[in-house]
Order: sequence, then C-alpha cells, then structure tokens
Amino acid sequence: MKPAVLVTRRLFDDVVARLRAAFVVETNDADDLWTPDELRARLQGKAGVFVTGTERIDGALLDACPALRAVCSMAVGYNNIDVPACTARGVLVSNAPDVLTETTADLGFALLMAAARRVAEGERFLRRGEWTRWSVDLLCGSDVHGATLGILGMGRIGQAVARRGAHGFRMPVVYHNRSRLEPAVEAGLGARYVSKEELLGTADHVVVVVPYSAASHHLVGAAELALMKRTATLTNIARGGVVDDAALAAALREGRIAAAGLDVFEGEPAVHPALLEVPNVVLTPHIGSATLPTRRAMASLAVDNLLAALGTPPTRPPTALNPQVLELRSGAV
Ligand code: 8YV
Repeated sequence: MKPAVLVTRRLFDDVVARLRAAFVVETNDADDLWTPDELRARLQGKAGVFVTGTERIDGALLDACPALRAVCSMAVGYNNIDVPACTARGVLVSNAPDVLTETTADLGFALLMAAARRVAEGERFLRRGEWTRWSVDLLCGSDVHGATLGILGMGRIGQAVARRGAHGFRMPVVYHNRSRLEPAVEAGLGARYVSKEELLGTADHVVVVVPYSAASHHLVGAAELALMKRTATLTNIARGGVVDDAALAAALREGRIAAAGLDVFEGEPAVHPALLEVPNVVLTPHIGSATLPTRRAMASLAVDNLLAALGTPPTRPPTALNPQVLELRSGAV
C-alpha cells in the first residue's frame, strides 16, 4: 500500500508524476488557498505533505494529524514550520536550500540596481507622458559600481549577492552575520565583518538576507534606518517582518534614505499602504526564486526529500532540517 501524500498547491505535472509513482497523491489543481481547518481536514490519513513557504505547520496541527511523518517544503525559508514541534513528534522536515541561491541573488541585485538608478520611477514617469525634455539632473540616482555594499545576513544568498557586488561591480563589501565567515571566504569576497551599526552607517547599498525569526523581527526599524546615509538604498529579499515597513515608508517619504527595493512584505500579499504612496521604492511580489528552472529544482528537491522520508525503510532526506528524527525513531523501537 502506497503512503498517502498531500500537495498543498498546484505543481508542475512531471513533478506530480514523480510523486504519483510512489504515493497516493491528493493535489490542489485549482490552486485554492486552504484555511488552516481545511488543511487539517485534508491531512487526515496522510503520511507526507508537500508544502510551500506559506502553510503554517505547528504542534496543534501535528497533534490533529497523527499519521503525518514528513513535511517537505519547496522553500528555503521555514519560518512557517515549527521544526522543534515536528521533531518532538517524530516528523521529518525538509526545506529547499541551494537550488534557489543564485536566482534569488539575481533578483536582489536587480532590486538594488533599480532602486539606486530609479528604474521603476523612470518607467512610471515615461508611461505618464511626462518625459518631454532632457534636464541635467533628471532622475539622477546613485552609482552601484564602486559603492560600498552592506549585507545583513551572510548565508548562502548573502554571499551570492556579495559575489555579484565584489566581482561584477568592484564594490567593497561589509557584512554582519550571527557568525563570522572563514577568513578564506571573506578574502574571496573582499568582505569585511562589521557590527550592524557600522554596516548601516557605512554602506551605500544595504541588502537584507536574514531568515525570519522572533530575533530578526524588525531587525531594520526606525532606529536602524536613522543610522543609514541619506543617499543609501535598502533592499529586502529575506522575509516580510525583518524590516519595519511602516518605518521604512516614513524614512523614504521624508528622504532620510534615498530609495528601497522590496520583494517581501509584512503580512503579504497585503502591502503597507504607505509604501504604495512613496515613489522611491521598487516593489515586487515575492518573486526572488521565480524562474521556471529554479521553481522546478525547488519542487523536485522537495519530492526527493519526500521519497527518502517515506521510503521503506526511510532514509535521510537530502536536505532534512531534523535528520535526528530517524535516529530518535529507531531508538524508540
Ligand atoms: C518561495 C521563498 O517562492 O524559498 C523561500 O524561502 O521565500 C521563496 O523562494 C516561497 O516561499 C514559496 O514557497
């Protein structure tokens, strides 16, 4: 008897076909957004669930779904999943790191450049028919090449942004992270480890790439924005809530920083109304990993994880967040 698996969102047909070869699969072809109650109901009797970065998986849900043994996400960020609660109940969890690193860094750099060079503002100006003549300071922005790049959160994606800045645009890189990089990695990026305060005060372009947690909530708020140069830009490709969007909108409106680029928002898909009112911010709808090859790779990695987690016997999922569950389970036998 094949294990039963739930797929919470519409997926690529070939990815679903891989799942169907091993599991009895319930899909969501209409791509409906299920309420927590509906998710709980559909999870009854399922051994595994394929999730994205948005479905909330917590202890109460797990208690209501005792058959569940694996939660495999196609996102790298896993702030929607209570991993300790899963571990405590013997449920394997996996995320999807690495496969989206370069694609997400590309988008981060696109936002940085668009903010610095006022690309979105310029486009709106042109579309409104306001481009009637040249003038010496029309839509002047700030340089990217040679400017100091500040990276808050120097994990895989942060380092990929740093590589683009250091090697593509000759940018000196400063960074702040929970832990310092190995000296050889720092040297390869020409990156200097500094305090968060020094980073905010020296960088011309700040990029935020930290995972969301209670500790990183409003990591960049009014006090941090006040440390930034008036000419600086801020780009957030991490998670909504890491930046205080209301404080950012106020700083942008008052010209306390020059511009911002945002791919993620507090309470998305809602966007703080004040951000929609300021011209000097570039807004994209959480598309950091949105290229088809990358989305395929993310989905495929989640399937690899489900196949391992629900195999007979289960084996270590390639990107498990709590592989110790396998040992805990065998110890309990
Ligand atoms: C996803 C992301 O598109 O991987 C992540 O953490 O934020 C994005 O790549 C989103 O979470 C949907 O799964």
